[in-house]
Amino acid sequence: MAEAKSLGVVGSGQMGSGIAQLGAMHGLHVWLLDTDPTALCRANKSISSSLQRFVSKGQISQAACTEALGRLKYTSNIDELRSADFIVEAIVESEDVKKKLFIELDKITKSSAILASNTSSISITRLASATSRPCQVIGMHFMNPPPIMKLVEIVRGADTSDETFHATKALAERFHKTIICSQDYSGFIVNRILMPMINEAFFTLYTGVATKEDIDTGMKLGTNHPMGPLELADFIGLDVCLSIMKVLHAGLGDSKYAPCPLLVQYVDAGRVGRKCGVGVYDYRKGSEPIKASPRL
Ligand code: NAI
Repeated sequence: MAEAKSLGVVGSGQMGSGIAQLGAMHGLHVWLLDTDPTALCRANKSISSSLQRFVSKGQISQAACTEALGRLKYTSNIDELRSADFIVEAIVESEDVKKKLFIELDKITKSSAILASNTSSISITRLASATSRPCQVIGMHFMNPPPIMKLVEIVRGADTSDETFHATKALAERFHKTIICSQDYSGFIVNRILMPMINEAFFTLYTGVATKEDIDTGMKLGTNHPMGPLELADFIGLDVCLSIMKVLHAGLGDSKYAPCPLLVQYVDAGRVGRKCGVGVYDYRKGSEPIKASPRL
């Protein structure tokens, strides 16, 4: 496949907006699609302010920032992705919803387009089997936040072709990312290890072993993690963490992956983390500030 010139990103939340920003910063014409116009507005603001931070740190010029912004288009109309060379999906972590999207993308995008998923845990093989082009479907798992974090985990489905793999690797390298490759099993590499740790931190809180602050401080100072597990869960989104634990539990069939009831309860209560202002910690104005800060 020739080098991708245009990128479609579906889902303009935390991950999609960051992936779209990366594409625009590296010379691709980008369509960022979301069904929710408010999410598109938020993405527009967060991309502009993130690019400005790159300018103020001297990492890119003002001209490069303006050019990147000029390469970005925001839309709620999926038909606009018709001519994209490469699509990355970053919508809600639900297999049913993602499959519906892949069926639609398969219908409207050009036959040479690669369809990648930023899923944290869902089977690429099953997403691919919903399309008529399973050899062009792949997992391209960015870390949060995509413009800053150095890693991309590439996941090959059962039928992913070498050509698709090499085009995906080339795109990640264009974004100056380090690549790791995983077989297509629930949670892949990073979340297979990270999420049980986060879930265990919830159990530690749930069973009254320690306060949230002491759990996070213990893991930061005791194991040299830049963020504590509960703080990291708030940063990722508790809804995303819960979805991944459910996929690990169902896919690997071991009770050790059962989501902690406290994690379930927080999500039921709508306390999904930083993105809504409250999760394990409270980030709303006037509330007690937390001491730790994310890796932004
Ligand atoms: P988010 O909740 O911040 O954003 C999801 C966006 O998708 C929302 O704006 C929503 O309106 C939109 N959306 C939902 N259904 C849609 C559809 N059918 N068509 C178009 N837009 C739709 O979620 P986040 O955190 O960005 O996660 C997205 C994906 O990235 C998930 O699969 C997640 O597992 C994965 N991921 C998340 C990471 C994190 O730290 N949050 C890290 C790496 C991967």
